[in-house]
Amino acid sequence: MLKEITILPGLDKTGIIEGFSEINLKAGETVSIVGPTGSGKTAFITDIELMAQEDTSTRRRVLVNGESPPDEIRYNPAMKPIAMITQNTKCFADLSTEEFLQIHARARGITDNKVIFKTIDLANNFTGEKITKDVKVTVLSGGQTRSLLIADALLIGAAPIILLDEIENAGIFKQEVIGIIENTGKIIIFVTHDPVIALLTQKRIIMENGAVKKVLIQSDIETRAAQNLIELDKRVGSIREELRAGNVITNEMFSVNFAS
Ligand SMILES: Nc1ncnc2c1ncn2[C@@H]1O[C@H](COP(=O)(O)OP(=O)(O)O)[C@@H](O)[C@H]1O
Ligand SMILES: [Mg+2]
Repeated sequence: MLKEITILPGLDKTGIIEGFSEINLKAGETVSIVGPTGSGKTAFITDIELMAQEDTSTRRRVLVNGESPPDEIRYNPAMKPIAMITQNTKCFADLSTEEFLQIHARARGITDNKVIFKTIDLANNFTGEKITKDVKVTVLSGGQTRSLLIADALLIGAAPIILLDEIENAGIFKQEVIGIIENTGKIIIFVTHDPVIALLTQKRIIMENGAVKKVLIQSDIETRAAQNLIELDKRVGSIREELRAGNVITNEMFSVNFAS
């Protein structure tokens, strides 16, 4: 049973020790990692993925429930409590979506096939390009693949920690993802450049020069700001759809869509 993970400080890119004593992430928490390109965001979540023990370039240590994880947990994929989905994650098996999910479900001892179709439905909430049960996983687009794997991690996978590296760049409806992932009891960590995701997560870790610079806790004002941003995002989205459909933006549409 995973209750929390602890990240102990490593070294920044110039070899100086990071300025925090420890970072605790508890089951059920949502976290975002923000900072400029090259600041060490992917390295940070990769440390979690590997459950680093001062054996990565950052020299960080990751504890599980307050202790160094045994090698069995670190190196046995079936025991590993972590699912990581990046822009490069692909499915290689020559299987249909349904078969792919079926194999994973069976491996997890799930016999009820309903979960397969629930997972495909959920994935379809995350992407506008419809995923069918018969399509081969190898021909799914980037956005479809990520959507399927997130849905799979949420409904079939048992991993209590989910790491998502810049999924918003992958044709995924991020608001739907955030809506679903709240209250899963899992630790969900987003590496993100998206202000809505950054504001909707409970903790925000700021990276700079390979090091954690700050850990911020979400405030009520930020939660409200995020709601406003979601509205704004939707308006931008609807204008985008109008433009895509070849329509001209009229004064009226503009005031209808943007007044308030
Ligand atoms: N603390 C660190 N010490 C040494 N190298 C680091 C450290 N953090 C990041 N790096 C390296 O710096 C490069 C950029 O880091 P990366 O995590 O990919 O940045 P980001 O995801 O923020 O764009 C990578 O090659 C990474 O291995
Ligand atoms: Mg990165």
